[in-house]
Amino acid sequence: MKQVNIETIQRAEQFLHATPLSKAELTTAMDACIAQVRANMDYFKERFPFSCTKDLRYPIIDNIEWTDGFWTGMLWLSYEYTKEEQFKELALRNVDSFYHRIKHKIAVDHHDLGFLYSLSCVSAYRLLGDEKAKQAALMAADQLLTRWHEKGEFLQAWGPFDSKDHYRFIIDCMMNLPLLYWASETSGDPKYRDIANRHFATSSAYVIRDDASAFHTFYMNPENGAPDHGATHQGYRDDSAWARGQAWGIYGIPLNIRYTKDDSTKDLYRGMCNYFLNRLPQDLVCYWDLIFNDGSNQSRDSSAAAIAVCGMHEMDQYLSEDCVEKKVYQGAAQAILRSLIQNYAQNRVKPGDPILLHGVYSWHSGKGVDEGNIWGDYFYMEALMRSLKQWEPYW
Ligand code: GLY
Repeated sequence: MKQVNIETIQRAEQFLHATPLSKAELTTAMDACIAQVRANMDYFKERFPFSCTKDLRYPIIDNIEWTDGFWTGMLWLSYEYTKEEQFKELALRNVDSFYHRIKHKIAVDHHDLGFLYSLSCVSAYRLLGDEKAKQAALMAADQLLTRWHEKGEFLQAWGPFDSKDHYRFIIDCMMNLPLLYWASETSGDPKYRDIANRHFATSSAYVIRDDASAFHTFYMNPENGAPDHGATHQGYRDDSAWARGQAWGIYGIPLNIRYTKDDSTKDLYRGMCNYFLNRLPQDLVCYWDLIFNDGSNQSRDSSAAAIAVCGMHEMDQYLSEDCVEKKVYQGAAQAILRSLIQNYAQNRVKPGDPILLHGVYSWHSGKGVDEGNIWGDYFYMEALMRSLKQWEPYW
């Protein structure tokens, strides 16, 4: 396993002494989320929110984006939390839409099948044993396998499969691998797990730098499959650490441990997480690239903060009491979540509104800068759910 530098956490004392979130704080925050989901159900009806808001309102789209599963995931979280049938009913109608999408291969020529199908359909299968959802998620896993490059041993992120210019993977893909592990567990066919293991090994070896920060993307050599170079797509610079990419790693590693039971990546996780925590600003919610901090005049990415909280939460069970950072991570997760609750969550309910403010989708293309985004809303709800009860991940 790749060895990385593990920084000492500078704010360890502050995190160790963070006041635990109270049940009342968490419940109030979750109730506000549920109220916004209710308002958005009437607003989106059977369609979907666009990935990010425009002027703080979600445009409504068909099921064609890589982000549509987050909304359905929010409906499942709302159903689990409230047990109200209306959430289940709409989520199941979304499942029909996801079945149709994969059956007819609509906008699925990319690697984001895990984001789409773990949260919409694996969830439905886990919660209700829904057969159609299971079939849809298995078809999605098969579709994800079509992105596999045997020579380079990775799943290609975007673009035409035979294009040399697109011979690369991205850190985000760690979050698509749980779909493959689930598919092996569910079908009994080891092929999905084997590919997930091999992609994870390639990804850990190359997309994470020696200082434990992550490139966003990594190119392999299309002629011989050898590692070539790291680069960014949504980060500030090729050599900077895009905050959401770092967060995808912080959550992707423990999800890999969840399925493989192999915790040899623990130090990789510690390296990535400590790097992230050491670059947080005063209010503990990261700027959109970790190269920025207070005084930079740049935007935060609240979604990266929420993803990292979920990752720290998931990792906790795999860290033994003798891990020096275990308690520090517990305190950090609570402190970051408290800042999201107090400073980033909307304090009003309006149809089409996001739940979490101040995210960044893609700074270079000017898309969703200092706006809400649907995965920020989802991971914020997941983080609250994880803090409120023993919760079985949909991933
Ligand atoms: N996976 C794409 C993004 O995080 O924006």
